[in-house]
Amino acid sequence: MTILVTGGRGAIARAVTGGLIAAGQDVRVASREPSAVPSAVEYDAADPAPALRGISQVFLYSDPSSAAAFVTAAEAAGVKQVVLLSSLSALGGPDDPHAKTEQVIARASYATTCLQPGAFMSNAKYWAYQVRASGQIRLPYLDAEEAPIHELDIADAALRVLLDGPGNGHDGRGYPMTGPESMARRRQIELVTEVTGVPIEAVDLTVDQARAEMGMRDEGQRETLLAYWASRVGSPASIEPGVELLTGHTARTFTTWLRDNPGLFG
Ligand SMILES: NC(=O)c1ccc[n+]([C@@H]2O[C@H](COP(=O)([O-])OP(=O)(O)OC[C@H]3O[C@@H](n4cnc5c(N)ncnc54)[C@H](OP(=O)(O)O)[C@@H]3O)[C@@H](O)[C@H]2O)c1
Repeated sequence: MTILVTGGRGAIARAVTGGLIAAGQDVRVASREPSAVPSAVEYDAADPAPALRGISQVFLYSDPSSAAAFVTAAEAAGVKQVVLLSSLSALGGPDDPHAKTEQVIARASYATTCLQPGAFMSNAKYWAYQVRASGQIRLPYLDAEEAPIHELDIADAALRVLLDGPGNGHDGRGYPMTGPESMARRRQIELVTEVTGVPIEAVDLTVDQARAEMGMRDEGQRETLLAYWASRVGSPASIEPGVELLTGHTARTFTTWLRDNPGLFG
């Protein structure tokens, strides 16, 4: 009974791995860059069969382009349960990439559970690069609201489902989950200064400035993101209960996340 954890370099995968080992489980970690992760095997999304050999349960990062190859290999390997790291965006409609992955991954004989987190608190790591370079955080729509979630809460939720195993109430379910409170991005930046003591100038970019500065190659993805932030201005994010439902504890706050990641902002 070995559990495969994909996305080995990611913060969530690392926490899931640690929790499974602490619970006495046999774990195989897989990464697309195995040399960067202790004891990891290679995860080739186009050919996941070698990583899946002898595996009974999988913690899987979502990827629409390789989902069909995963299903074929997982069925052949006799996998019994897949816990998919999806996204709250999957609830937005069938064209969402995470919704598409959910549909493909679930069309199989193993039990599937989809974790559907909203924005990660760890997105603030990208702000830290800006702060260290210029003392500024430059973003459009500073008054857009979100309820960011701590990656350790997503990992705790995944652990619960994996340790319960298939046939224990999670099969075929999706768990929407967010952090404990809705906050404007402007308020998140204030909290960074309150907790770390690092002074930060928050710069509210116009949409055209943001287009020029975002540096995203995929224009469609950039415009989707801008439209999403625009829709969130002055509109508190709904708080989704997945963390509490699965773990029995309340979701961690952004202040906790900042204390868990000391030195990030300088
Ligand atoms: N950031 C957010 O706000 C947010 C919100 C909701 C959902 N999500 C989803 O959560 C996932 C991870 O997001 P993140 O990068 O921000 O978190 P992260 O915890 O930093 O994860 C990064 C890791 O994800 C793994 N990974 C990425 N794409 C993968 C793929 N196609 N197949 C296997 N592993 C893959 C990589 O591991 P290896 O390179 O070691 O294989 C990488 O190190 C994505 O699917 C994202 O869409 C993100």
